[in-house]
Amino acid sequence: MPTRQPERTAAEFVPHGVDLPGLAEAARGCRGCGLAELENTGVVFGEGQPSARLVLVGEQPGDVEDRRGRPFVGPAGKLLDRALQDAGIDREQAYVTNAVKHFKFTMASTGKRRIHAKPDALEVASCKPWLVAELNRVRPELVVLLGATAAGALLGQSFRVTKSRGQLLEGPPGSSARVMATLHPSAVLRGGDQQEEMYDGFVRDLRVAAKALNSRPADV
Ligand code: URA
Ligand code: SF4
Repeated sequence: MPTRQPERTAAEFVPHGVDLPGLAEAARGCRGCGLAELENTGVVFGEGQPSARLVLVGEQPGDVEDRRGRPFVGPAGKLLDRALQDAGIDREQAYVTNAVKHFKFTMASTGKRRIHAKPDALEVASCKPWLVAELNRVRPELVVLLGATAAGALLGQSFRVTKSRGQLLEGPPGSSARVMATLHPSAVLRGGDQQEEMYDGFVRDLRVAAKALNSRPADV
């Protein structure tokens, strides 16, 4: 099935020849998809080391991230921090971002709580130029894709995380980075009585990433 192309994308909003802060600034004016029109949300751009060897890609900011304007600082972020630490990865040395830069949500019937809604494939495709621009600036050695949305954004919608998680793969054409897909930390949080097992599997995958980074000298 051919991937449907969105009518509008972020491409026309992505400036050329600017650094990461310049991209982040420009993203605030993005109207590349309908998520720009959701009220009281803002762009949550990636953050971290501008020349990080590792980029971590999530799905989209959550409620906490949207309010604070930073990626992975809510409950999923806390779990991610713990798992990275257990895997021997220093988040401070990485660059952390999302496939989609706006929080998509529905309002709870009480009207008080914003409930996460999954971005669809067209929104992911619309937002991809920002992710590509970030990767082109950072030029990491390894990109870790957290969950199906991030994996779909870079490796195509037919990629199956369940089948290929924890494997080091060649990056998308034109990129020298390798990629690895794994679970999304929110999936671990929702794991119920499987949570511990899922967490262990998540850390195991992240250790593959840690090892890949440690097996190459930093200045290559
Ligand atoms: N989930 C994500 O995918 N990204 C965030 O930044 C927070 C939660
Ligand atoms: Fe632009 Fe991405 Fe926000 Fe859509 S989600 S408006 S493409 S920044």
